[in-house]
Amino acid sequence: VVLVLDFGGQYSKLIARRIREGNVYSEVVPYDIDVDRVKEIDPVGIVFSGGPNSVYDEGAPEIDDEIFELGVPILGICYGMQLMCHELDGVVKRAENKEYGRAMLEIKKAEGILAGLDDELECWMSHADRVEEVPTGFEIIGATDNSPAAAVGNSDRGFYGVQFHPEVVHTPRGEEIIDNFLYQVCDCSGDWTTANFIEETVAEIKEKVGDKKVICGLSGGVDSSVAAALVNKAIGKQLTCIFVDHGLLRKNEAAEVKETFGQEFDMNLVAVEAQDRFLSKLEGVADPEEKRKVIGNEFIRVFEEEALKVGNTKYLVQGTIYSDVIESGGSDSASTIKSHHNVGGLPEDMEFKLIEPLRELFKDEVREVGEELGLPEEIVWRQPFPGPGLGIRVLREITPEKVEILKEADAIFREEVKKAGMSREIWQYFAVLPPMRSVGVMGDERTYSYTIGLRAVKSKDAMTADWARIPHDVLEKISTAITNEVPQVNRVVYDITSKPPATIEWE
Ligand code: XMP
Repeated sequence: VVLVLDFGGQYSKLIARRIREGNVYSEVVPYDIDVDRVKEIDPVGIVFSGGPNSVYDEGAPEIDDEIFELGVPILGICYGMQLMCHELDGVVKRAENKEYGRAMLEIKKAEGILAGLDDELECWMSHADRVEEVPTGFEIIGATDNSPAAAVGNSDRGFYGVQFHPEVVHTPRGEEIIDNFLYQVCDCSGDWTTANFIEETVAEIKEKVGDKKVICGLSGGVDSSVAAALVNKAIGKQLTCIFVDHGLLRKNEAAEVKETFGQEFDMNLVAVEAQDRFLSKLEGVADPEEKRKVIGNEFIRVFEEEALKVGNTKYLVQGTIYSDVIESGGSDSASTIKSHHNVGGLPEDMEFKLIEPLRELFKDEVREVGEELGLPEEIVWRQPFPGPGLGIRVLREITPEKVEILKEADAIFREEVKKAGMSREIWQYFAVLPPMRSVGVMGDERTYSYTIGLRAVKSKDAMTADWARIPHDVLEKISTAITNEVPQVNRVVYDITSKPPATIEWE
């Protein structure tokens, strides 16, 4: 494993992704992780991420010096580089010219992380401080106009630093730099592949579970489907999948799930009809976080009841993935934005132990695993769907009528996007029902009806997203179809905000 120590930089997770793309497993941990913990993890390499601070700021994140004595190669990026140089007797100063954006890196010495690269390289800068004097034992291996020490290294110790960001796409050959760190400097074996991930995870699950029974909450979404298939591969009929129809699923979804998993895959599948139960619990609940908690709690209660029927059940499988963990405040430096129900909303007296085989994976890695496991394309490429379902898309208080309106409008939207051939390129697209009505005119008569919001975004991992530029004529078709076919709707709006500042869902 290569550890990424997170100093609060916006690209920390991206660094881990790039490393994994180089077939080496990588995890992001807080910068102040205990050195003993690092020793336990025994990484082959460590990366210091960038961060918003200057090393001279009061309270700026520091690093335990012992980290430099572990004999493990280190790559410092931006703030990470400045910090490394600062702690190892180099000099960091505020640069006269801040450097943001594209710069040309002149390679002084093509060794270590710069091995095999040409003498000039485009790179992406974003910094105010710079290294003025390199620490003892270091030399300058690359420079830009504004940063005479833009890339530095100590090949004896395997310590390297870059002022620019090799992890972003604007540094076109950044991947080679990261690969060089992995293979030239850290001597990684490069055996992190989805096939190996499956093999190792299957073995771990078998070992952990023994002859106990396991249940899995299957929603039919990509994450829980892949998790179920993975656990199914490990323990077959010891697994019972419980599919809860909470009445907040998309149109036809329940039928599809039963067909695919119960029949085609021949898994143990229990389908629980719990529509009324959820809707009555949600009556009068308007706050989004509260709704998530109610739905999350009720889910677990239903599981507990079903598990009792299965008997001797010790484990619960959940399709939690990396972005859920991070966004629920699982990592210290990230703040809680929404408590995703499969992490934050669990009751404290829960009786199961969790198996979360995808906890460390990014969405596209989950899809790769799904494909490798032979899941059908419709499932692997199904767009992400939140656990609380339409419960957080009917904004504020939920009523059966509103759920029905939303289901119909959402189905029309999805159908039209598919017809326009855009379903693969858009990460997520769905309808929301705001808690408002507005005035319209239909057939010479005044109406006072609901508005449907259309949300469509492009994203790589749901951490950030851009609104999808669906052509106007397609939007027009959707709007016409919805207002014609859903009588309670007289207005359709299109959401043109990215994430940040908005989030993908409206609640
Ligand atoms: P946001 O709205 O935070 O969503 O930008 C990021 C991704 O997470 C999904 N999402 C959820 N998934 N439980 C889930 O399992 C939840 O409570 C939840 N809330 C949001 C959302 O659909 C998007 O893909």
